[in-house]
Amino acid sequence: MNIALWIGLVVFMLIAAWFAWRYFDLKKHLNQYAHLIHEQPETFPADVEELEDLSSAIASLRTSLNLQLSALNSENARLATVLEQLTDGVLIADANGQVQYANPAACRLFENANPIGDSIAEVVRNHQLIEAWRRCQQTRKTQSESVELPARHQFLQLFAIPDTHAGGSLLLVQDLTRVRKLETVRRDFISNVSHELRTPLASLRALTETLQNGALADPEVGPRFLGRIATEVDALTQMAQELLDLSRIESGQVELVLAPLVPRSLLTSAADRMKMHAERAGLKLTVTCPEDLPMVRADRSRLEQVLVNLIHNSVKFTKAGGEIVLLGEAVDGSVRFAVKDPGIGIPADDLPRIFERFYKSDRSRAGGGTGLGLSIARHIVEAHRGRIWAESTEGRGSTFFFTIPFS
Ligand SMILES: Nc1ncnc2c1ncn2[C@@H]1O[C@H](COP(=O)(O)OP(=O)(O)OP(=O)(O)O)[C@@H](O)[C@H]1O
Ligand SMILES: [Mg+2]
Repeated sequence: MNIALWIGLVVFMLIAAWFAWRYFDLKKHLNQYAHLIHEQPETFPADVEELEDLSSAIASLRTSLNLQLSALNSENARLATVLEQLTDGVLIADANGQVQYANPAACRLFENANPIGDSIAEVVRNHQLIEAWRRCQQTRKTQSESVELPARHQFLQLFAIPDTHAGGSLLLVQDLTRVRKLETVRRDFISNVSHELRTPLASLRALTETLQNGALADPEVGPRFLGRIATEVDALTQMAQELLDLSRIESGQVELVLAPLVPRSLLTSAADRMKMHAERAGLKLTVTCPEDLPMVRADRSRLEQVLVNLIHNSVKFTKAGGEIVLLGEAVDGSVRFAVKDPGIGIPADDLPRIFERFYKSDRSRAGGGTGLGLSIARHIVEAHRGRIWAESTEGRGSTFFFTIPFS
């Protein structure tokens, strides 16, 4: 029993000693902390003046931060405006090809009102363009691709530019449809002009060579060939004049001299100018138009040129014995003029194209024309904010209409 008491006492003493050691150890640490805190105050501002300095430093830091932030905001707004107004499409896609941004031009070009969140493939819908984007993602180098989209009547050029920060890419899309069209028109124009020049020049060459080889001395053949030379030269002169007119009108160099005009007087003066020409071809030329039609504001000599071109065609494409009628009537705020002939007519397939430059419905029948007369007429009428069109039945005749708004 005594031994158990001793053992208990020893155990108690050991536990007490451990607690005492823990207590002194903790106290030592606390003293160290207290000492540290005592020494710190000199690193903190000790008086009011230093506190004020600190506060003003913070305030100026805040002001400069605000300035930088508003500069950044206005820069952002400017960039957004540029992107919104840009006629080129801009798409930004992340590394997975998901569209993160699209400007309005891109939405228009790809006919997608809200492409955000869609994949590039869904938005672009063309395998060549998708391939260009894929190549850009793989190589991390700018790629370009041009494609024609016949279904959408578009010609697009795409640049895929890698985005170095986000691992995605920026797609820049340009619509080259108009540029392409102009190139085609220019090419066609040059080939048409040279074609039209070759025929009269070749016959002039043949005629002069024949004359040089002795025909000049022939009292019968000589004058006949000279007469044909004169005809060819006239045709070339007319063509040069028409080309000049057309280029002036198309480039807007021709200023219309607008003045109030009595519709009937316009028809009668055009008829007077062409009467002799029609009679020589065995055709009657008449005017049917009320005296009291409202006046139109128009360039008299230019509109007379339109009527002369139309009458010229009617004479050219109508057999002797027929009658060409010039009509004028009021329709929907405009005067509608018409030139009506009982001639050979125009095939339905050609009808929508006859106002194009150099277009002739049947080259073998076109009778030496260049195919420019109607396109000049169309430009003049459209410059008056009017409309020109034709109705025709092959073999039965044609009627050409144009409208000029009331003054
Ligand atoms: N009254 C018409 N009757 C039948 N075909 C016509 C008539 N007017 C025009 N065409 C057709 O339209 C084509 C184009 O006419 P346009 O006046 O532009 O050219 P052109 O008369 O051939 O040449 P240009 O007027 O330059 O001398 C003609 O070649 C012809 O095929
Ligand atoms: Mg003509």
